[in-house]
Amino acid sequence: MADLLVTGGAGFIGANFVHYWHAAHPSSRIVVLDALTYAGNRANLAALDADPRFTFVHGDIGTEGLAADLLRRHALDTVVHFAAESHVDRSILGPDAFLQTNIMGTHELLKAARQVWLEEQRVPRDRARFHHVSTDEVYGSLSFDDPPFVETTPYAPNSPYSASKAASDHLVRAYHHTYGLPVTTTNCSNNYGPWHFPEKLIPLLIVNVLLGRAIPVYGDGRNVRDWLYVEDHARAIDAVLARGRVGEVYNVGGRAEAANIDIVRTVCALVDDRLRADAALAGRFPASPASAGAASTTLITYVADRPGHDRRYAIAPDKLTAETGWTPRETLSTGLARTVDWFLANEPWWRGVMDGSYRAWIDAQYGATGAAR
Ligand code: NAD
Ligand code: DAU
Repeated sequence: MADLLVTGGAGFIGANFVHYWHAAHPSSRIVVLDALTYAGNRANLAALDADPRFTFVHGDIGTEGLAADLLRRHALDTVVHFAAESHVDRSILGPDAFLQTNIMGTHELLKAARQVWLEEQRVPRDRARFHHVSTDEVYGSLSFDDPPFVETTPYAPNSPYSASKAASDHLVRAYHHTYGLPVTTTNCSNNYGPWHFPEKLIPLLIVNVLLGRAIPVYGDGRNVRDWLYVEDHARAIDAVLARGRVGEVYNVGGRAEAANIDIVRTVCALVDDRLRADAALAGRFPASPASAGAASTTLITYVADRPGHDRRYAIAPDKLTAETGWTPRETLSTGLARTVDWFLANEPWWRGVMDGSYRAWIDAQYGATGAAR
């Protein structure tokens, strides 16, 4: 059974993956390496603290020698690499951190895996795996009548974020071709679900509807994204680790394209239904339009477009399905309902993330190292 170094495991997808993997692979050990940036939340993993199979390390993937030390010390044979700066808007405002973490940080991890697995031969080559978690945004933007992205679609990244992810994909590929590092890469479409940081569209809009705040819709709201429930992404990575071919790239997506404005309307209707059906719930969110019998869509506010805003993403996951048997379990409608219900049930989490108070909880609970007391 694989023993994992999971980078970025305190973030949105990383935390969902760690919980999924922990439940699905009871004898596997997991070491999480996470810098706990604004997007990383130690509380997301608190439920695993008592388990000796789980170790949390507070650190930067770009720190020279750190990842190599962890691979050696914990005898790890698999890296699942999520750590990244991930928000497109932030990359437009300040690209430097994106280049540092997504490119240089990834390179530091590749060097570590090459050193420990290939040079020092601490793990047999056929057991080792470096899995790189990437994005469909590296392929650029589609017109409405274009076919979906496939693995051979030429790279055409349009934002500093996607350009940095594209660079990291190329480095991963190069380490396989040049040094023989056993790698796989997945390029996934937009995820949503539990622990999603409320700066991205779906969690932001759920929280804003509950708090009665404006819902900012960029441009004309007709940009299309292809949505995947986060646990289906975790299952896809598991499928690639188990049955994917070394050196290959797999696209991951749920064939669930939707215009942003349609996502907004669907989520508004879901929240309205929940609040109208439950007076106690409505009482918890008095500023939400639904609590006063109005429609949350009244909060929709069209705002200036994102610079360079990609019009449409769509992904064809046929290769992944053909080679591993993976298919998504959630549809957009079941996944959105689960997500809205998760945010309703986890108000302290998103309030703590938004007002920064979870940081104080982390310090009290874990101190500066992030290790469980
Ligand atoms: P996120 O921003 O929620 O989490 C990123 C995590 O990485 C955080 O825990 C953060 O603390 C950590 N991190 C950042 N810089 C670090 C560093 N230098 N060293 C160690 N840890 C660091 O991101 P996410 O949405 O969970 O995305 C995870 C990965 O999946 C990223 O590589 C992203 O490009 C990719 N991806 C995301 C989506 C999506 O829809 N969110 C879709 C496809 C691919
Ligand atoms: O496609 C995969 C990518 O999906 C990942 O690689 C990124 O890490 C992830 O952040 C996501 O990128 P997007 O830019 O597509 O996600 P975001 O949630 O920021 O925006 C989704 C769409 O909604 C996009 O067209 C912009 C729009 N939007 C976003 C926000 C935050 C709005 O209209 N209003 C908003 O307030």
